[in-house]
Order: sequence, then structure tokens, then C-alpha cells
Amino acid sequence: MKIVHTIEDVRKSVRQSRIEGKTIGLVPTMGALHAGHASLIEAAVAECDFVVVSIFVNPTQFGPGEDLDKYPCTLDTDAAFCENLGADLIFAPSADEMYPSEPLTWVEVEKLTDGLCGANRPEHFKGVTTVCAKLFNIVGADIAYFGQKDAQQTAIIRRMVCDLNLPLQICVYPIVREPNGLAMSSRNRYLSAEERGRALCLRKALTACREQIAAGQRDRNTLIDTMEAIIAQDQGRIDYVSIVDAETLEPLKTIAGKVLVALAVHIGDTRLIDNILIDLNNPPNIV
Ligand code: PAJ
Repeated sequence: MKIVHTIEDVRKSVRQSRIEGKTIGLVPTMGALHAGHASLIEAAVAECDFVVVSIFVNPTQFGPGEDLDKYPCTLDTDAAFCENLGADLIFAPSADEMYPSEPLTWVEVEKLTDGLCGANRPEHFKGVTTVCAKLFNIVGADIAYFGQKDAQQTAIIRRMVCDLNLPLQICVYPIVREPNGLAMSSRNRYLSAEERGRALCLRKALTACREQIAAGQRDRNTLIDTMEAIIAQDQGRIDYVSIVDAETLEPLKTIAGKVLVALAVHIGDTRLIDNILIDLNNPPNIV
């Protein structure tokens, strides 16, 4: 496995693989890799002949006062992690390599970015779509791998690829959780032991919502009240708790169709997100 830091070097490596007729997979990450990232890298290694993992803490997707400066950087450990999983190349550019001058061109997806995480992080998705478009152009992958953990990000990236006719396929893999149910996240390492316990309220709230839906509850407000009460018990500070159409991300008044239940909650100073997908089309799939 090779580690490269420049766009020229990543293009050189990928070009060679292409000449050899290999399919190229890309797993975009910000590093501090964990089992959630591993599931994407493993899928890419299983499906593609040449797998690139990008590790870049993208400054344009962090807002003022967010955790850009303290975001964990663990390149050596991440490199060993990727090598064990069978990745072929790590692309770990500097901020100057990706943004040599102030960017004047941005990729923005409308509407899907307004609600959920976009409501309180207004510039976040503009940074995500722009860096992903850049990474797709730099690597020239056939398939890029994303996690359902960031459900809104996934819907937005899919839409960008569709609207701009980008020549790659997007594959999405389920949320990987710790044994106690906490969704794996690079930000979990900010949590104290006591906060880790309280952080389980995200999963508890989603599970209660799923159980109520399975029992026939279809009223948005009732479901949201239940989730908010569970989060309040653990002193979680709610950013949002919402139930939306999984594709349009429009809030649902009555629960029907393919439903995304999503939430963002601050536990102490750490903002955590989680979600579940429930398919109420025929036959219902409530997992
Ligand atoms: P990052 O948070 O490092 O996540 C990289 C990928 O791993 C994303 O597709 C995310 O959904 C997935 N992922 C994270 N936790 C997961 C979990 N518990 N289970 C399954 N997949 C999980 O998302 C980003 O970086 C950035 O926004 C990026 C797309 C790299 C653009 O900068």
C-alpha cells in the first residue's frame, strides 16, 4: 500500500491501474478511522481491483466554532488500519494541496441541504459536496463508498452525482455500532466515560420510535415527543429530532413510505448524529 500526498501522485497511481483494466474504488474519509470506515473499505476491497482511501480533514465543511482545530489526526494508525484491510492507496493531501487559493467555485445541492444538519450548519454541505466533487475528479473512481450514518450527506451526494452526471456509482453501507448500540464516530473519542453512557440515548430514542411505528403509531408529533423525552432523561441537548421522507428529506406529518428518523444531539460539548431507515411500503420493513 502506498501513501501519497499530492494530486499528481494519486492521478499517476490510478492511471496505471486503469491501464491495467482495474476498477477503482474510493472511500472518502476524514481519518481517525474506526469500524464504520472499515466496513466501507472492506466493501470496496471486495468489489474493486484498486482501492483508494482519502484522508482529509476538509476545512470548508466546518463552521466557525466547530471542531476543525481539535479533529483527531491519526495518519500513522490510519495507514496501518487501511493496509490491514487491503486498501491499495491512501491519498492524504494537505489543505494547501486541495485549496491552493481561496476557492471561487463551489458545488451546492439545493433543498436537500436546508433541513436536519443543514439547518444549524448552513455552510457544511457546500463544503462536503465541493470536496467530494474534487475527490471524484482527482481519483476518477468507478465506485465511491459512503455510510448510512450520515444519511443526509448520502442523499445529497447521490443527488449531486445524478444532477451533474458524474461518471461514478455511489454505494451506501449500514451504520456500524459499538456493542452497546452507540453509532461509531470519530467524534466518540471526545466523550468521557460518563458521557458515553448518556450518548446511548440517541440509539434508545430511535429504538423506541421504531417500536412505536411497528406497533402502528403514525403520528409525527407523538413519535417525536417520545424521542425527545428519552433524550431529555440523559440531559442530551437536542439540535434536531426529525422524521423525513428518506429521499426528499421533507418532514413527514404522517409516517408513510420510506422513512428516515434522524437526530443530532449534543452530549456535553460533542455533537452526535444517528438515524434509522424504516420502509413502510408493501411489505413493510421495520428493522
Ligand atoms: P467521515 O466522518 O470520516 O466519514 C467517512 C465515511 O464513513 C462517511 O461516508 C460516513 O458516513 C462513514 N461512516 C462514519 N461512521 C460510520 C459508521 N458508524 N457506520 C458506517 N459508516 C460510517 O463523512 C465524512 O468523513 C466527510 O464528510 C467526507 C465525506 C469524507 C467529506 O469530507
